[in-house]
Amino acid sequence: MNRRELLQQMLMGSAAAMLVPLSLARAAGEAGSMVGSAPHKAWLLGYQSVQQNSLSSDSLRLSGRWPAALQGSFYRNMPARFERGGQRYQHWFDGDGMLQAFRLNGGSIAHHGRFVETRKFRVDESAGRQRTPAFGTRLASMEAVAGPDDMNVSNVSVTWHGERLMSLWDAGSAWELDPQTLSTIGPVTWRDDLQGVPFSAHPRKDTDGSLWNFGAARQMLLIYHIGADGTLKKAEGIPVPDLPMVHDFAITERHLIFLLPPMVLDADRSTAGQSVLDSYRWHADQPMRILTVDKNDWSRQRWYELPSGFVFHLGNAWEEAGGTIRFDYLRYADARVLTESFRAVMTGEYSGGHRSQLAQVTLYPDSGRAEQQLLPGECEFPTLDPRAVGRRQRFLVLAEATGDISHPGFNALRRIDLDRQNEQHYRFDEGIMVEEHLVIPKTANAADGDAWLLGTVLDTKAGITRLTLFDAAHLQDGPMAQAALPYSLPLGFHGHFVRS
Ligand SMILES: [Fe+2]
Repeated sequence: MNRRELLQQMLMGSAAAMLVPLSLARAAGEAGSMVGSAPHKAWLLGYQSVQQNSLSSDSLRLSGRWPAALQGSFYRNMPARFERGGQRYQHWFDGDGMLQAFRLNGGSIAHHGRFVETRKFRVDESAGRQRTPAFGTRLASMEAVAGPDDMNVSNVSVTWHGERLMSLWDAGSAWELDPQTLSTIGPVTWRDDLQGVPFSAHPRKDTDGSLWNFGAARQMLLIYHIGADGTLKKAEGIPVPDLPMVHDFAITERHLIFLLPPMVLDADRSTAGQSVLDSYRWHADQPMRILTVDKNDWSRQRWYELPSGFVFHLGNAWEEAGGTIRFDYLRYADARVLTESFRAVMTGEYSGGHRSQLAQVTLYPDSGRAEQQLLPGECEFPTLDPRAVGRRQRFLVLAEATGDISHPGFNALRRIDLDRQNEQHYRFDEGIMVEEHLVIPKTANAADGDAWLLGTVLDTKAGITRLTLFDAAHLQDGPMAQAALPYSLPLGFHGHFVRS
C-alpha cells in the first residue's frame, strides 16, 4: 500500500464510524436530557453552556501578589455549548469548543472568550439544533457526515507553534484562530493530501523547537513532525492492528511512545448506528499495549505490554544510558470514566468517579519487558516544565482528588519531586473545582522547579471562575495570587501559556 492509499484508508477509517445509515441510528435518548430536570448540584455549573458567543472582562478583580514578570496570554479550551433546540448532548466531550484568553499585562488581567467556529458549530448554530452527531451523542434526527471534521468540535486543547494559535481536538484538523481576537481563521492543512486527517490534541515540543504529533483512526497511526518554523517536515502513517482511541503520547530523545488501551472499534456497532464512543468495545482480558517508534526511522518499532488499563494522559518520558525508557501515565482500571462518568456529569447523576493513579513505567528494550509501579493518590492533568519534555524532569504537577470529595473533577493540586521522592499538596476550600495548572519557569534560565503554577478553578459557591497562581516551590502555602472573573466558565481541559 503506498502512502496515498494509507492516508486515504486512515481518513475513511476515522469517518467510518459515522458513515452509517441514519435510519439505523438509535432513537434512545432522542429528546436528550436537560440539566433543569436533574437534582440541583452545585457542580453542574461546570457543565452548563455559555449562552453568549463571546465573553469579555477588561479587568479581573486581583488579589495577592501577581509578579510583574509574568506577562503573556494564557489560553484554555473547553466544551462550552451543550444544548440547542431543547437537546442536550449526552457526553461531556461533545460540547462545542470555546477558547479563553487571559491577558496578563503586568498589573492587570483581562479575559476574552470566543467559540471556535468549526464547520459543525456553524451548521448546528444556523440550524438551531444539534444537526450533526458528536463523539458520544448520535440521535436519529442527526444527519450523516462526510468526514471527521464534520464532527470536529475543537474543544480539547490549544497550542502556539510557528506563530500560529491552534485549537485542537482528538480526531480532526487543528483549527487556526486569530491570537488577538480569537476569531476563527479555519482548519489547518499540513499537506494537500492530509486535508481533514486527524491531528491530535497533545503535540509535544522537542528540544530543537520542532513539534511531534499523531493522528489515530481505525488501523492507522499517522505521525507528524513539524519544524520549529511551523512547516511540515514529515508525515507518514503506520499501520497498527486494533488501534484504539489514542489521546496522548510522549517523546524521549530518540523515541515516540504510544499507549494503546484495549478499547477497539467494533464494526458491527458502528454499522448499527452507534455513536463513535459506543462503537468501541472494552476488552478487559487484553493488555495495554505500548508502541515505541524510533524518531529517526519510523519503521523501527518495538512493542511491550502492561496489564489491562485505560489512559488519557502521559506525563513525561526519557531515556537512560543503556536505552532503558522511563515514562509515567495516569492509569484507570478500565474505560468507565469515559463511558459512564463523563455521561453522568451531563445529567447530574454522577455519584462518584472512576479515577486514575500515577503509574511509573520502565521499558527494557533488551528483554522487551515492561514494568509499572502505581503511586497512591487519585490524579489527572499532569504538567511539567515545558523545557524538560523528553528528558528526565525533576517535578510533576497534577490535579488531585483528595479526602471527602463529592463532585466530579478535582479539589487539590499535587507536586511530586522525583529526585527527593517527596511531595507537596494543596487542598482548596469546599466547593472549589480545580483544573489543570501549567508549570511556567520564572525565567528562561530558571532551574527546574523555580516556576509558577498557573491555572483555573471553578468556585461553585460564588458562581465564578478564578485564575490561581502558585509559587511552585511553595505549593502547600496556597495561591500567591488570584484573579476573579465576574462570571463562571464551564470546566475545561487544557491550556497553553504564551509569554510576551
Ligand atoms: Fe488531554
